[in-house]
Amino acid sequence: MEVIIRPTTKEAVNLTAKLIAEAINQKPFFKLGLATGATMEAVYADLVAMNQAKEVDFSLVHTFNLDEYIGLDPEDPNSYRYYMNKHLFSKINIDMRNTNLPNGLAEDEIAEGLRYESAIAAAGGIDLQLLGIGNDGHIGFNEPISSLAGRTRSKALTPATYAQNSVYFTPPESMPKRAFTMGVGTILGAERIVMLITGAKKAEIAAKAIEGPVTSMVTGSALQMHPRTVVVLDEAAAANLTQKDYYNWVFANEPEWKPYR
Ligand code: F6R
Repeated sequence: MEVIIRPTTKEAVNLTAKLIAEAINQKPFFKLGLATGATMEAVYADLVAMNQAKEVDFSLVHTFNLDEYIGLDPEDPNSYRYYMNKHLFSKINIDMRNTNLPNGLAEDEIAEGLRYESAIAAAGGIDLQLLGIGNDGHIGFNEPISSLAGRTRSKALTPATYAQNSVYFTPPESMPKRAFTMGVGTILGAERIVMLITGAKKAEIAAKAIEGPVTSMVTGSALQMHPRTVVVLDEAAAANLTQKDYYNWVFANEPEWKPYR
């Protein structure tokens, strides 16, 4: 795992977007794993700007999102399909047919998980998976005690996730209590992983995921098992890391940030 700490949120976001754009530019038929949530909005704004400036081309890119709420129509403003169309897909030169999310309205939940796994496999796997982390340490919606070998399936959300995300729903109680999510095993199957963590509220869980024991109680800690993961944090989110000096020293000695590519 490589850890990069940037002084501000903006710089952490810019670097994350740059890592993604550079990877796509190296391999145009790119399979990009995507996340939603508040943290990612700024990353998508950066990617949109880079696409409009012709610095990155999405015309051959295929995307696979991590998760989708069960029971929400794609047109529902709280669905992750709606979020992705709004913040990214409608603003870049991607072919909408190449964008994939689990179908929140699928009647057979087991079949939907298998269908999504098959779609990822048929595309040849994910080249780079973008991740955020939840207040309870989840990646995707892999809540505490999720199998670290799990695949795409439906998952019951925790009260912590409900508290984190129900603020976006009107009324808050209308937030679904289950979601489809790639499993930790699916995520670990990606060739590369870039995780972005910003803000003081995430400092405690960031330290657990990066420096704590690998445990299903903090599914983000499973990234320690992945051979090519970069975690980008702003200063506020990095506050509780004990090896901060080491991470900063490594980054300062790598002005071209070669190890992170
Ligand atoms: C969203 C997802 C989640 C979020 C996490 C952080 O697709 O998979 O794991 O990345 O809940 O969300 P924010 O950025 O809203 O704090």
